[in-house]
Parts: sequence; structure tokens; C-alpha cells
Amino acid sequence: MNITVIGAGYVGLVTGACFAELGNHVTCIDVNQQKIENLKQGILPIYEPGLDLMVQTNMQQGRLHFATSLRDVIVEPHVIFIAVGTPSDKDGSADIKYVLEAAKEIGARINQYCVIVDKSTVPVGMGDQVLTTIQQELNRRQSDAKFDVVSNPEFLREGAAIEDFMRPDRVIIGLSSNNAKGIMLDLYMPILRSPERIYFMNIKDAEMTKYAANAMLATRISFMNEMSVLCERMGVDIENVRIGIGSDSRIGSAFLNSGCGYGGSCFPKDVRALIKMAEKHHVDSMILHAVEERNHQQKHVLPSKIISKFGEDLSGITLGVWGLAFKPGTDDMREASSLVLIENILARGGRVQAYDPAAMPVAREVMPKEWFQSDKLRLAEHQYEALEDVDALVLVTEWKPFCYPDIAAMKTLMRGRAIFDGRNQYDPTHIRDAGFEYYGIGR
Ligand SMILES: NC(=O)c1ccc[n+]([C@@H]2O[C@H](COP(=O)([O-])OP(=O)(O)OC[C@H]3O[C@@H](n4cnc5c(N)ncnc54)[C@H](O)[C@@H]3O)[C@@H](O)[C@H]2O)c1
Repeated sequence: MNITVIGAGYVGLVTGACFAELGNHVTCIDVNQQKIENLKQGILPIYEPGLDLMVQTNMQQGRLHFATSLRDVIVEPHVIFIAVGTPSDKDGSADIKYVLEAAKEIGARINQYCVIVDKSTVPVGMGDQVLTTIQQELNRRQSDAKFDVVSNPEFLREGAAIEDFMRPDRVIIGLSSNNAKGIMLDLYMPILRSPERIYFMNIKDAEMTKYAANAMLATRISFMNEMSVLCERMGVDIENVRIGIGSDSRIGSAFLNSGCGYGGSCFPKDVRALIKMAEKHHVDSMILHAVEERNHQQKHVLPSKIISKFGEDLSGITLGVWGLAFKPGTDDMREASSLVLIENILARGGRVQAYDPAAMPVAREVMPKEWFQSDKLRLAEHQYEALEDVDALVLVTEWKPFCYPDIAAMKTLMRGRAIFDGRNQYDPTHIRDAGFEYYGIGR
């Protein structure tokens, strides 16, 4: 099949590369010219394990191409995916302008029947808006090209995106046309092998499924974070409670880790967007407000523990921070807990030496320039360089190399003996036996 993907970010690039890997002819389009120039030379805009090799191989095989506009796509696509960003607008609702721009361009370009698949996470009802926008453009240029709109929300996790895309738990497809249904089945059958795990529903149901899924996962995390605050007050170890409840098949063990708050490009913005959707329909989303508020507070738990130990004035104190990305396996720092932590430390006169295995280039771009002035924040070349002469280590992102640290090296390098474990990765007894003070979350 000939496929065009609009938006070559975390979702679009993975979608394009994976469909090319399955033998389709794919063109990924992005308005960011630099991104496209780099991709044409095999330089990826993001860190995602395995993606660089997949992109390079499929480019070499002539199945994967890049362009800055639909105008430059030579073969008429059978399917066009919209995978542009839907960030939070000023009031918290999803900003749909990139989706509408993509729809407008589609309407201005298509000449034959085509399935338009919305992969971006969009507010319920967006399918109708995409349809209207495309039709208006077709009418304007008096084209009778036919098309169908489909919702196919994406559930991949950054850091495991290829695995998730190629072996999904399920594929959700919202549509109202049999023609489009056949094409979507053809597209996904090589991945799923059997149709049982493709769930067809109407477009609005599919759009809502994505928000409900993210809101549920965010709720589990905030629930566990709330439990961790209570556990800490009562002398209970949240880690034992997590294992205890996670082994209950009615609950399951995923997304039960308490920590220093969730970030990323999805949970925070999607919870906010769902609250806004509820407001529009006069529903008071009591649970989602609480999920958001708990997460906001949770991002301040590490700063609070650090202040409890060192005092409000942190001048003269240097902290080594391990992990800047919002989670391991990605360089994405959107709404990362590390940003809240570092801002708090620097505001109190402290210094930070930070290291992340993948997010250092992104960190240099997204962190305010003043943070780097007078060496208040220094980005280290190596995880142990970040520990030179520090008063404490703060683990923010549980990358694997941080989970099994070289205790002897830490003792030599660090001047202090405190470890703040923002992801409950370490065994408190081992850490204490090694001569360190241990501060976890809810333990
Ligand atoms: N990142 C994730 O893990 C993830 C997972 C599931 C769903 N989603 C959803 O998928 C969507 C995309 O997310 P992302 O993280 O890939 O975003 P991203 O910001 O990484 O990428 C979006 C890309 O779209 C490009 N773009 C914007 N307008 C364009 C246009 N008119 N034409 C061509 N390109 C355009 C941007 O330049 C950017 O490169 C969002 O709605 C998001 O909520 C993301």
C-alpha cells in the first residue's frame, strides 16, 4: 500500500518506519524542514531504541521517503495518517490547529479515493471536523475525490515504541465505512495476524477510548502516589503494598509504581484535555482534578525531602541528578519531573550536576539559559562525573545503568552520603548498609 504520514515526531516516525518495514511504500511529511533534511541523511530527530536502524534500512530499500509537503508526494496515497502534535492550549484543552492544518492540506491535494486516518490524540468529535475541513477544500477546488475519515488512536510507549507498534495488545479503529474497514484490516493484519484484536467502533468512541486509557493509567499512578504519602506517615513500605496489590489479578501490576510524578507528552496534557471536554459538557471531573493535583504535588516531593535534609537555603549544596527524560528509553523531556526538581534547587541557591543517557541534547535546548549561568547547572558527560563532590545523589529517571550503581565509586566521588531515590529503585537496606542515608518515596 502507498502510505503518507503527516508529522514525523515520536508517533509519526515510528508509524512510518514500521509500516515501511512491513513492505508498504511510505512517505513521512513534516513542516520542520531541518527535521526532514536530517532524516533524508539518516539523522533522527528523536531517540527511540531500534528506530535509527529501521529508518536507515527502509530508506535504503526504497520503501521510506521524506518530504516537507504533500505536494512532493509523487504516488497518490491509499492511506494518509495524521500524526501531528495536539499540545495543551492555554486553557488546558487540546490545541487542534495542527490537525486542522493537516486536514486542509489533504483537502488541497488528494485526487483519488483515500482513507484519512487520525492517529493524533484528538478531542471527541474531531473526526467530523477533519471530514468537514477536507470536504470544504475539495469543494473549493471543485474536486470530486472521495475519502473516508478513520480514527486510529496510538497507544505506543516511548522507549518501547517499535515493540508496541509491531506487537500491540489491540488496535482501536473508529469508522463508519466498509470500504475503509477493508483497507484498515489489510493494513493491520500483518501485525496482528488475526482480526480478533482489532476493535471496530464508531469514530467518537475510538477518540474517547484513547483519552480514557491515558486518564486511567494516570489515575493509577496518582492513586499509588497518594498511598505512598500515607505509607510514609504510617511507617509502611509502599513497595510491599505495591507487590501485594499488584499480584491481585483484578488489579494487575502495571502502572502501580509510586515516584516523583508522571510527565511526558501524553498523560499531563490528555488529563487536562479530558477535564476541559468534561467542562464543556457540564460534567464535574472530580477524579481527574484530583489526579492532576496529586501529580503536581508529587513533583514537589523530592524538593521537599531535599529541603528537609539540607534546609531552605541550599547555597553551598550541590546535587548530582541522574535522569532528565520523563522516563527511561526516551529523550523526551516534555513536563519531566526533573525540570521541577532542578528549578526548585536552583531557586534556593543550590547547584546541580546532571546526566541522562539520551536527553542531554534536548536538555540543552529546553532548559532556561539562565540555569546554566555561573555553572549553577552543569551537564556531565558521564553518570559518575555528575557525582563529583556532590552532597547527594537524586535519582529521577530509572534508566538501567542507574539501577545498579557502583557503590564504591560513589563513595569515592561524592562528598556527602545522601541518596534521594525518586523511583524506588534501590533496596534501602543495601544502601544504608553501604553507609549512605536513603530517602525513597513512601518507604
Ligand atoms: N509521544 C507519544 O508517546 C504518543 C503516544 C500516543 C499518542 N500520541 C499522540 O500522537 C500525536 C503526536 O505526538 P508526538 O509525540 O509524535 O508529537 P511530536 O511533537 O513529536 O511530533 C509532531 C510532528 O508534527 C509536525 N507537524 C505539525 N504540524 C504539521 C503539519 N501541518 N504538517 C506536517 N507536519 C506537522 C511537527 O513539526 C512535529 O515534528 C499527539 O496527538 C500525541 O498526543 C503520542
